[in-house]
Amino acid sequence: MLRRGLSVLGRAIREQPRIFAVAVSGSVLFGGLVIASAYVVGAVVGDVVVPAIARGSVGVAALALAAGALFGISVLRVVGIFGRRLGAGYMQFRLQAAYRRQVTRRYLELPLSWHQRNATGTLLSNANSDVEAAWYPIAPLPFAVGTVVMLVGAIASLFVTDWALALVGLAVFPALFALNVIYSRRMAPRQARAQRLRAEVSGIAHESFDGALVVKTMGREAQETARFAARAGELRDALISVGRLRGVFDPMLETLPSLGTLAVLVVGAFRLRQGAITVTDLVSVAFLFTVLAFPVRAIGWVLAELPRSVAGWDRVRRVLDATGEMPYGDVTLDPADLTPATLAFADVGFAYEPAEAHLPGAEVLGEVTFTVPAGRTVALVGPTGSGKSTIAALAVRLVDPHTGTVSLDGVDVRRLTAASLAGTAALVAQVPFVFDDTVRANIALDRPGVTDDDVWAALRLAEADGFVAALPEGLDTMVGERGTSLSGGQRQRLTLARALAGRPRLLVLDDATSAVDPRVEAAILAGLRAPAAGGPAASILVVAYRRATIALADEVIYLEHGRVVARGTHAELLATVAGYADLVTAYEQAEADGEQQPRPYDEVAPLTSGLEVEVDR
Ligand SMILES: Nc1ncnc2c1ncn2[C@@H]1O[C@H](COP(=O)(O)OP(=O)(O)OP(=O)(O)O)[C@@H](O)[C@H]1O
Ligand SMILES: [Mg+2]
Repeated sequence: MLRRGLSVLGRAIREQPRIFAVAVSGSVLFGGLVIASAYVVGAVVGDVVVPAIARGSVGVAALALAAGALFGISVLRVVGIFGRRLGAGYMQFRLQAAYRRQVTRRYLELPLSWHQRNATGTLLSNANSDVEAAWYPIAPLPFAVGTVVMLVGAIASLFVTDWALALVGLAVFPALFALNVIYSRRMAPRQARAQRLRAEVSGIAHESFDGALVVKTMGREAQETARFAARAGELRDALISVGRLRGVFDPMLETLPSLGTLAVLVVGAFRLRQGAITVTDLVSVAFLFTVLAFPVRAIGWVLAELPRSVAGWDRVRRVLDATGEMPYGDVTLDPADLTPATLAFADVGFAYEPAEAHLPGAEVLGEVTFTVPAGRTVALVGPTGSGKSTIAALAVRLVDPHTGTVSLDGVDVRRLTAASLAGTAALVAQVPFVFDDTVRANIALDRPGVTDDDVWAALRLAEADGFVAALPEGLDTMVGERGTSLSGGQRQRLTLARALAGRPRLLVLDDATSAVDPRVEAAILAGLRAPAAGGPAASILVVAYRRATIALADEVIYLEHGRVVARGTHAELLATVAGYADLVTAYEQAEADGEQQPRPYDEVAPLTSGLEVEVDR
């Protein structure tokens, strides 16, 4: 543990060598002055005070000199403390900031499959408390290094003064050091436990607040409170045990130097009588023992923090060393090409990685083959859990297939550059995500060349221009955390507009309009399919349930248990595939029942003029 802890500290020093040098210089200056102050105090007592008492009068010049020396030492000590604290603070917080940045950058580089295996709470604590814990011992480190130098100096000066007193020092200082080591050894697991419980307590609180709706409607307040109270109680006990240990060791650490001083006085008095030392020497050494006690504890602080630092560092390293299994290729698709793209799945198989490594990953997709020809709309229909979202994720390369290939315009998506992928295919996910920002920022996402006109055009296509225009500040309206100030349907249309604003050549809609009124949903899809009327020049893969929406597709792929069961037009499938007919009809029935009450959606934008939604049978 000590070796690993020191290697973490070594890394910190290698990364910030100059600041560390400043801090240690300040600390060594301070240590030297602590020793010097002891000898000055000794000199003041031995050479000024004692003669003055003997004479009955005080020499003003000697007193002024003594006062000046003490004052000068104090000023220099202030400089030393300033340098040490400033250096330590700079070093600690710079390292924290640098590693926070590295960790969050790594998160964004890592593939979706990695994120699916790692809980959000863990990621948050990696970037926050783990980074902090890793660099926590940096704060007392310069002090501790300076103290070690000071202890060596102190013992050397003791030997210069008198060997008998030096032996007392040789007994007391290592004992003090050992006591600190024992203290930190005992303290470390208690601190670690308290740290873990802190995270758990806040985790439970977070979950209860997050799920407040469920907790309230299910009447689980008492149970949730009890669950929280149990963990809070454990944290209390852990902290009390920390306090108890502190209560035992702190007095010992305070007392040991005092015992040292006592021993110095006893041994010193003896040596004084022998004439081996002077009063000045005796007072200096006795004073030295009292002022050394505090700095020695800095070594204990560093040792106490090392286990936590190593644990934090290990967790940070796990993120930094995680490998992205999805390197991008180097093939670019012509950016000037604005025609719809062709998407092809050839014999695609896929399995999610199991939650635990030793379990087998269950196959989610097998032998999936289909094409979305340029400019066409293909609907993906299937019961819940049949693999529709997985196909959507594969189409925009959020994940890679285990067998077979996914290609865009004939190029395997694994060979495309990141920019080509993002510029060609856009996914509107099943669960809309909205940033806590303005409507404009949410749609444009700072992409170059996306003007307000483009934003409005995208909003019109997403049938969202009506409600955005009615917002108090239009495009500048803040939408709140996760878009809380918007309805579910409004949020969905905002994310659709976001995808459209990038002028994708392939649009993948994963149930992206489920919370929108059925008429509006059909209108959106009809608008997207009409490039002449301002629609995007995009091929569309759409996951849908509603008959009116599906009927707009050129082809329907019907999926069951991750396999393509049937394909054809909506009318053909309805006539020939029983499972398909059941699913579509059941969904329609459920919606019809649900619509007995008016849905609480926002105002419905007027349907695109002249739109005929063809509903068969
Ligand atoms: N991250 C994941 N890890 C493990 N298994 C997953 C993961 N995501 C989905 N699955 C599993 O993969 C299968 C297909 O899921 P998928 O989300 O593609 O279904 P879907 O057709 O989109 O369903 P829905 O209509 O409910 O959205 C399901 O059995 C699901 O349990
Ligand atoms: Mg899905």
